[in-house]
Amino acid sequence: MDKLTIDDVTLQEKRVLTRVDFNVPLENGVVTDDTRIRAALPTMQKILKDNGKLILMSHFGRPKGKPEAKYSLAPVAKRLSELIGRPVKMAPDCLGGEIEALVNAMAPGEIVLLENVRFHPEEEKNDAEFSKKLAALGEVYVNDAFGAAHRAHASTHGVAKVLKDVAAAGYLMKAELSALGKLISEAPRPYVVILGGAKVSDKIDVIHNLITKISHLLIGGGMAYTFLKAQGHEVGNSLVEIEKLDIALNVMKVAEFSNPRKPVKLELPADHVIASSVEGTDAMPHKQVAIPAGKLAGDIGPKTIEHFRNLILQAKTILWNGPMGIFEKEAFATGTMKIAEAVAEATSKGAFSVVGGGDSVAALGRSGLTAKISHVSTGGGASLEFLGGKDLPGVEALTKAAKK
Ligand code: 3PG
Repeated sequence: MDKLTIDDVTLQEKRVLTRVDFNVPLENGVVTDDTRIRAALPTMQKILKDNGKLILMSHFGRPKGKPEAKYSLAPVAKRLSELIGRPVKMAPDCLGGEIEALVNAMAPGEIVLLENVRFHPEEEKNDAEFSKKLAALGEVYVNDAFGAAHRAHASTHGVAKVLKDVAAAGYLMKAELSALGKLISEAPRPYVVILGGAKVSDKIDVIHNLITKISHLLIGGGMAYTFLKAQGHEVGNSLVEIEKLDIALNVMKVAEFSNPRKPVKLELPADHVIASSVEGTDAMPHKQVAIPAGKLAGDIGPKTIEHFRNLILQAKTILWNGPMGIFEKEAFATGTMKIAEAVAEATSKGAFSVVGGGDSVAALGRSGLTAKISHVSTGGGASLEFLGGKDLPGVEALTKAAKK
């Protein structure tokens, strides 16, 4: 990485303004998945170990530029304090006189969590004045919010531009860029990409950016039925993005012709689990490709699972993003769970694997296999944009490292 990292800056007794992505799931005021908080622990612990003053800032949800109690970061402060084993002072706002006094009174080793930066409309506008005021709270800026790095907002971009000589990547940011970076360079083959989820449109940039580098593209989930429809198959009531049929046809052509020596094998479901509705109460296996009228496909079938599994087990590089079906429903969960198992097994045999996207990460968690994957990304939109070949504003804004 050609950017300054946390190891390149002096933290001792400094106010270290640290952007984290604490946009975590919450239920009744309690954090239900603390993965993103845990993932930022190495950076936070480094700042504390070096006797820095840890000032954390994050967004939470989409509160539309004004304070709303349900978008307060207070429950996160509580969970963070438990995880890090120290008190975490929850600030009532993210800037202003009271907050300045609070951070100026901090002793080395103390932690303050600023209130949701999106309580101010200037945050998402990347407002220059707002960025200056936020930046004034710190002497050093560390960005560990990979999940928000695709946003050019004040706390992810504007502040880094103000603290332009001391804007460094944290360890999580560095780890994400390193793991995802391997997938967009010449990764060892066979290189298998497994994509799922509802929409072709979400993944199209990733497909185009990776297609010349990979050996197999396995497509499952809702998006597979747009491809099958484009090939002329009956898909019944399955999810189809009618306006994306041309794009699907184009992807199939690109897969075949992008590299004449090594055409990419595009694999679609050959059998399914079908039902009358997404509830899956009458779910049953269906051995043909074509879906009968009045039925929809909710999962890939056993033949497809076996075929996908064999390809995954031969891979040296694997990217998986998106479930193979409506896995939240037990009747449609098998495909996604079996893919999770296959990716974990391939990793234990030496493959380098990356799993991204909220649903596939949740499925991994459900199967207890998270620790068996080489890298599980904390970024949803950010990882798709990065793999789609876009520059991330939150990374671009960091200080360029001097050539060693
Ligand atoms: C996410 O959860 O993907 C990130 O925290 C970004 O959130 P946003 O899509 O509301 O910007």
